[in-house]
Formats: sequence, C-alpha cells, structure tokens
Amino acid sequence: MSYYKNHVFFCINEREDGSQCCAQHHTQEMRDYMKKRSKELGLVRSGEVRVNTAGCLNRCEFGPVVVIYPDETWYTFIDKDDIDEIIEEHLVKGNKVERLMVDKQI
Ligand code: FES
Repeated sequence: MSYYKNHVFFCINEREDGSQCCAQHHTQEMRDYMKKRSKELGLVRSGEVRVNTAGCLNRCEFGPVVVIYPDETWYTFIDKDDIDEIIEEHLVKGNKVERLMVDKQI
C-alpha cells in the first residue's frame, strides 16, 4: 500500500554535455507548477498528492517524463496545459490521460 494516493516524480536531470535530457524541456518549471496547483486544489494538504523531483529515470528517449506511483503511469508533456490535464484527470479524478502516456498499454 502506498503512503500517498499519488506520488509524482519529475525527471529534472540535466546533462552538461548538451546531450538529450529532460531538463531541456523546462521540467523544473513544470514540476513547480504541478506542486503549486496541487497545493491550491488542496491535494497536498490532504496527503493525496506528493510532487517530487528525480534524477534520470532512464527513459530519456521519451523525455520529458514524469511518473506517478503507485500505479506507475508514465507521462510526457509539452506545456502547462498538459500538466493541468494530468492534474485534473489523473490526480483529481483518477483517470489516466492516454494521449500523454508513454506506455499506452499499461
Ligand atoms: S534525463 Fe530524464 S529520464 Fe533520463
């Protein structure tokens, strides 16, 4: 049993040699935005949601990536609209956002 209903990890890994990494896609900003919105919606205070950063999650080819446990749903995203959709559908309603999923078969 997971402590949090939804535990979110954003890869914010940055590679100094310029090779592909999630940090090239403003992931820290997107993580901060999700955390702020989750607080505003009361999801953090209620203990339903925790939003953390992570180093490389070894799925760089799909980056930027975010994974939500306990059901291990992997998403990619482009902008705050995508983050809003993940919050509203996955974190609030419990529905997966198929169009943003990396592993659509899960
Ligand atoms: S750099 Fe993000 S998964 Fe590897």
